[in-house]
Amino acid sequence: MYTDVVKGLSASPKSLPSKYFYDESGSELFDEITQLDEYYLTRTETQIMQQFSTEMAAEIGPRALLIELGSGSSEKTRTLLEHLEAPAGYIPVDISGDYLERVAHKLRLDHPGLPVLPLVADFTEPLVLAASTPLAARRIAYFPGSTIGNFPILEASRLLRRLRSVVGPNGGVLIGFDLVKSVETLEAAYNDASGVTARFNLNVLAHVNAALGADFDLGAFTHNAPFNTEASRIEMYLVSGRRQEVQLGDHAFSFEQGEPLLTEYSHKYTPDGFADLTSSAGLTATATWTDRGNLFCVQFLVPELP
Ligand code: AVJ
Repeated sequence: MYTDVVKGLSASPKSLPSKYFYDESGSELFDEITQLDEYYLTRTETQIMQQFSTEMAAEIGPRALLIELGSGSSEKTRTLLEHLEAPAGYIPVDISGDYLERVAHKLRLDHPGLPVLPLVADFTEPLVLAASTPLAARRIAYFPGSTIGNFPILEASRLLRRLRSVVGPNGGVLIGFDLVKSVETLEAAYNDASGVTARFNLNVLAHVNAALGADFDLGAFTHNAPFNTEASRIEMYLVSGRRQEVQLGDHAFSFEQGEPLLTEYSHKYTPDGFADLTSSAGLTATATWTDRGNLFCVQFLVPELP
């Protein structure tokens, strides 16, 4: 984390990896975001999962091992698990360890007999499954929440390619991504009126302070998240309110007044744009599910024949 943060703050423009949002309070703040009126993503995806779970389970087939990347509260997975035929196991993968254990404990109570095998890992690094991983008819990577949108296109392609190799030639990838829509709707979702997203954004500074002993003044930065139309992505920033210096170990980083610190990308795709991305990773969609408003999309992808 220290290396990542020093690298990001030394770059121009300055940035911080968005995975560091998710310490304990960051995970809780994100759950709060998902309840906001403006944040249409989670409730829309959940509704798609509920409406089409039977079809999704049919695509996946029996005795599958479900590996979820960035599982968080595992809320969307519950519906899926209820519809899967004799799943071989569920591996929630998340960077926030304490949170993961609590969620796993609840899932075990609700699904007696299902092996729930949480894995504390950063899925942007190569994923290593335990030797004791249950045998299964098929491995399925579940990557919901539009998390794929946090990666620049080239990194997103590389990540999908790695998922393809984790699941193998007869595996599958069930993935959720956010669709392009009006700038007003998009910007409202990331600049909510009650300021929860602003607190979520600022929390990354609190996390860096607590974990690395930096001295970010949370009151000296403000949240801003415009939609970049050319790049088709929300860009989330913390803007320095004054000229200031931030200390981190032996390093001092100076911010100009108004200088932005980039904390997150959230790419929005057209169906064609997403097809280009998946095919660059050797994956092709065999099923597509969306909501009536065409806000969000879930696809089942399989490896293309070599
Ligand atoms: C969970 C990473 C997909 O990009 O919409 C929510 C995170 N950031 N509000 C997203 C987020 C600001 C979210 N992801």
